[in-house]
Amino acid sequence: MKSVKAWRVGNVGDLQILPGSRHRPHLKRPMWIIVLVTMVVLFLVCAYMYPPHTRGACYVFSSRGCKFEWLPPSPVRELTDNEIASRVVIRDILNTPAVRSKNSKVAFLFLTPGPLPFEKLWDKFFHGHEGRFSVYVHASRDKPVHFSRYFINREIRSEQVVWGRISMVDAERRLLANALKDPDNQHFVLLSDSCVPLHDFDYVYNYLMYSNMSFIDCFEDPGPHGNGRYSEHMLPEVELKDFRKGAQWFTMKRQHALIVMADSLYYSKFRDYCKHGVDGKNCIADEHYLPTFFHMIDPGGIANRSVTHVDWSERKWHPKSYKRSDVSYDLLKNITSVYLSEHVTSDEQVNTFSRYF
Ligand SMILES: *[C@@H]1O[C@H](CO)[C@@H](O)[C@H](O)[C@H]1NC(C)=O
Ligand SMILES: *[C@@H]1O[C@H](CO)[C@@H](O)[C@H](O)[C@H]1NC(C)=O
Ligand SMILES: *[C@@H]1O[C@H](CO)[C@@H](O)[C@H](O)[C@H]1NC(C)=O
Repeated sequence: MKSVKAWRVGNVGDLQILPGSRHRPHLKRPMWIIVLVTMVVLFLVCAYMYPPHTRGACYVFSSRGCKFEWLPPSPVRELTDNEIASRVVIRDILNTPAVRSKNSKVAFLFLTPGPLPFEKLWDKFFHGHEGRFSVYVHASRDKPVHFSRYFINREIRSEQVVWGRISMVDAERRLLANALKDPDNQHFVLLSDSCVPLHDFDYVYNYLMYSNMSFIDCFEDPGPHGNGRYSEHMLPEVELKDFRKGAQWFTMKRQHALIVMADSLYYSKFRDYCKHGVDGKNCIADEHYLPTFFHMIDPGGIANRSVTHVDWSERKWHPKSYKRSDVSYDLLKNITSVYLSEHVTSDEQVNTFSRYF
């Protein structure tokens, strides 16, 4: 809009100059001025209605090779007061440099309905690395009996979790909040009762600590179980173009865990409008809140993929679960050597792959 307005101001100026030039012969002059003004107006109208799309067209307007922006960029939305307040807090947290010390720990957050069937495996994983990790357990249904000393007394206060409801996000936030109380915790890993470690402790610790990134799954799903779940009630803060999807299993650096704590604005939009039954849709908050939030707030700070392997290729509500007979050395080798992350969308035509190292 800006350039069009600027031109209009120019025209008004020309008109004001006209009365001053009366002493000149005025039979021919008004004629060519009218023609000129008409042509300029026509030119502007055409340019406005048929904006230049090709380089060739662009040269008509500017010889400086299209650097001159003829059409203004799509208007930037004016942020609401709440958004401005929320974003300054978030920006400040993101700009605070990470504290790395010898005592830096990775917090392992177990979100489970009850007992942890792979506790013995995790015990082996943690053994010998005391002081470099901490464990938190959110058992939402039954209080588990623990075998491993690393898990005993590590339960936090929990509440009921219903799959697909905001209570899932609340449990994730509860785990993060409890783990943030320990200032040595620098990276936070969300795990379920069905997760097993695929690499040894040192590999995982170094990978997470030195990548300066959060591994949050984030992609655009144009299909019914992606963009189809978006509700316009989330406007103005959450626009469809920013709506993202991703499996819930994240790892997060400390600044990112803090901004999740600091956010109530975007969280409340998802709590109220990304749920079963809004506009006849079935929005799953834990699959959309964090991917959308980070896509809007710090897109460059996340890897857009999770480091937790999940097989969605069956295109069902839940990922493939491996049975005893599925688990072989080959399968584990395959999973640990995958350097391709696949995003299976609910639009049959669109699957995206990205290669990483
Ligand atoms: C991570 O941050 C540290 C310190 O800020 C820096 O030395 C290192 O190069 C960064 N690593 C990557 C992969 O950006
Ligand atoms: C993740 O996606 C965003 C765009 O949504 C992009 O800016 C960012 O660079 C991506 N991150 C990586 C690690 O590729
Ligand atoms: C491992 O990957 C290879 C090559 O992609 C495939 O042929 C094989 O079936 C996979 N094995 C298992 C157990 O998944």
